[in-house]
Amino acid sequence: MAKQAKVDSREVGLVAGLNLFNFFLGTKDLHYGLWSDDLPLTVQNLPQAQKRYSDFLIGHFPSGVKTVLDVGCGAGGVATELLSRGYQVQGVSPSPLLSEAAQNQAGDDFLIHHGRFEDVEFSLDDKFDLVMFSESFQYITLDVVLKKAESLLNPGGHIVICDFFKRNTPGKSIVGGGHKFDDFIKELEHSGLKVLQDIDITAETAPNIDLVDQMGRELILPTMKLIGYTFKANRPLLSKIFSWKFRKKLDKIDYKYLSGERTAKAFADYKIYKFYLLQKQD
Ligand SMILES: C[S@@+](CC[C@H](N)C(=O)[O-])C[C@H]1O[C@@H](n2cnc3c(N)ncnc32)[C@H](O)[C@@H]1O
Repeated sequence: MAKQAKVDSREVGLVAGLNLFNFFLGTKDLHYGLWSDDLPLTVQNLPQAQKRYSDFLIGHFPSGVKTVLDVGCGAGGVATELLSRGYQVQGVSPSPLLSEAAQNQAGDDFLIHHGRFEDVEFSLDDKFDLVMFSESFQYITLDVVLKKAESLLNPGGHIVICDFFKRNTPGKSIVGGGHKFDDFIKELEHSGLKVLQDIDITAETAPNIDLVDQMGRELILPTMKLIGYTFKANRPLLSKIFSWKFRKKLDKIDYKYLSGERTAKAFADYKIYKFYLLQKQD
């Protein structure tokens, strides 16, 4: 029997988050929300904050854009919104589970190219007015991503990147992810793409980390405690073996999600969240 390919743990995290938030809040978006003082930071307001993010993103598209490639389309939330506003949209998705959710949500008009952006082979006719990376840029190999995106553009076409990067700050961030910002800037300068817009949205996105921290302390911790308590009481030997075997993983989860150190400030100290609108020069 053929061996099943390993599943990426980041993909598992995204799908688990999708199921949880979809069940409790009815949101199928996988990006951060945009927060401001008029929107209290509660998990119930997350769908509204995510909608603000999508509106911000799409609101910065230049006029005249008709065709969009949504790279790393997640569960299809942004693509669905784009289709409803009359854009023609195709997606790229390496995750079978997310692709299924995206196809169901966005419908049959949404063509998905299955695979990593780095690997997908596009036909010569596949050209777009705009190639978009909504919180997916950080997952894609840096020295490939801009060149490949540019090769898929119509003359004068645009690239939108909305994602966070690692600042050049000493020490280790408790929040993972993001290309090094300095490396990105070098790639951007070499690319010859023209920067039309460059907006720092770190302050508006960082509060999401406080929400995740709150969920860790108020939902995940009590649930884990309850499971641990029952397991220890009912299966003492198995519980000991499990705790010993997975001690490093459990310590890591404890530190990352339950230590209270995962805060908006910790995010903003180590990450910079940027919106870029770039244009191909012909
Ligand atoms: C945080 S989610 C963002 C989803 C969506 N763009 C949104 O704004 O809700 C990251 C997405 O990047 C995708 N992704 C990860 N690695 C990728 C790669 N190498 N090429 C294309 N997409 C990738 C994931 O499958 C996921 O859909």
